[in-house]
Amino acid sequence: MDIIIFFLILVASLVITLNLFAIYWFGSMLIPVFAGGAPYVPTHPEILKRMLALAQITSNDVVVDLGSGDGRLVIAAARAGARQSIGYEIHPGLVRFSNWKIKQSGLENSAIVKNESMWKADLSQTNLVFLYQIPYAMGRIKRLLERDLAPGSRIISHAFNIPGWEPDEANGNVLLYIIKNRV
Ligand SMILES: C[S@@+](CC[C@H](N)C(=O)[O-])C[C@H]1O[C@@H](n2cnc3c(N)ncnc32)[C@H](O)[C@@H]1O
Repeated sequence: MDIIIFFLILVASLVITLNLFAIYWFGSMLIPVFAGGAPYVPTHPEILKRMLALAQITSNDVVVDLGSGDGRLVIAAARAGARQSIGYEIHPGLVRFSNWKIKQSGLENSAIVKNESMWKADLSQTNLVFLYQIPYAMGRIKRLLERDLAPGSRIISHAFNIPGWEPDEANGNVLLYIIKNRV
């Protein structure tokens, strides 16, 4: 009898723990929405390949992913040889997971994910930006890019266009923009 009660308590504790974790995880998925950006939806590996192909990363590139999710683009850019690859991510769990993956991959010298809002990002040292955001954020992101990026900088946007800008190249729903000389 005692063993049955012990077993039932064990199962109940497990179920409660799993439920609490699920409530935390799905509840925390609302953080990005309140922060004015897209909820977490990772870029599909096939699309990631297309983003990298359009980006043509070199060792001169300082790359930023605005809203970096689980860090897959940050890691891919560092692996492709970028000088620095930085993610801005508002969800602390995703930041921890990304930096753990960066460490496991031995890329700590060239890659990092910061637990900071992308709206506070300083892109003045950046020449390549990855985006997978959401239409309501694209106007504000455009102002950030216009403020900080030097002519020649590239932006690769998955799925959503930058309002008022014509892409320089496209591969399906992956768009490449190049900042033009200011007149
Ligand atoms: C659609 S996901 C893209 C994730 C990743 N870039 C990828 O392509 O796999 C958008 C990400 O932006 C993050 N995000 C939303 N608003 C943000 C903000 N204000 N600052 C930083 N990250 C934000 C979300 O938490 C989410 O991980």
